[in-house]
Amino acid sequence: MQSESPEVEIVRRLRAAGCVYAEDEAQLLTAAAADHRELDALVERRVAGTPLEVLLGWAEFCGLRIAVAPGVFVPRRRTEALVAEAVRLARPGAVVVDLCCGSGAVGAAIAHAVPGIELHAADVDPAAVACARRNLPGVPVHEGDLVAALPAPLRGRIDVLAANVPYVPSDAIALMPPEARDHEPRSALDGGPDGLELARRVAADSRAWLAPGGSLLFECGESQTAAALELVTAAGLGSRLEVDDERGATVVVGTLR
Ligand SMILES: C[S@@+](CC[C@H](N)C(=O)[O-])C[C@H]1O[C@@H](n2cnc3c(N)ncnc32)[C@H](O)[C@@H]1O
Repeated sequence: MQSESPEVEIVRRLRAAGCVYAEDEAQLLTAAAADHRELDALVERRVAGTPLEVLLGWAEFCGLRIAVAPGVFVPRRRTEALVAEAVRLARPGAVVVDLCCGSGAVGAAIAHAVPGIELHAADVDPAAVACARRNLPGVPVHEGDLVAALPAPLRGRIDVLAANVPYVPSDAIALMPPEARDHEPRSALDGGPDGLELARRVAADSRAWLAPGGSLLFECGESQTAAALELVTAAGLGSRLEVDDERGATVVVGTLR
């Protein structure tokens, strides 16, 4: 009987572990490994549930290669919808903030699409801040709690406040795939009892930070849309929703009129 080739064996191991795109992953891992021993170790870790992007050290987002690090939220393709909306709103020269920046993927993608913006990023997690600094060379990346991390001169000047806050309801964390549950910090996922605690706090504070006509953008789950729109209105902002069925994304936009 003919033994299977190393390539076929890797695909088989990945598929048995539930990797939907086993062929693609096998190719990426093979390209990332220096030799057979390293490849075997990478496949082993992938089979054990380590996110592919953490093993590769990068994630593709809006056509860019974004560096990711262990313990930092891996940018999701659905967040490209939030970027698309931010790009529609930002003009060259606009002040744009990537709040809750994680790896800085959102800010990097907006800056790539709209040259000449004044970009700032911020996150509470030092690991995320370090990762964002790699992806956003030359951009000030601030560390701290939501808008409290931002420098005072930005008050009243932000045209686009893109805040991909955590929005998973606390009770639903246990139901998330192990890749997220076991490999991403709870603080990057947990949005409190209804998932909207952080969105509520950012919206309440954003009036003081947005420029006239400026907008706050955040993502939420389909079942959270009514409550999300309500919290934006309660914060004194005009509210609207952008739904992107293709990416499975819901983006809430609050505008300071
Ligand atoms: C859902 S992740 C989004 C990361 C990134 N913007 C992206 O789309 O890939 C949420 C991020 O919010 C950060 N975060 C959680 N609580 C925060 C807080 N109170 N202040 C600032 N950042 C916070 C987490 O560290 C995490 O990086």
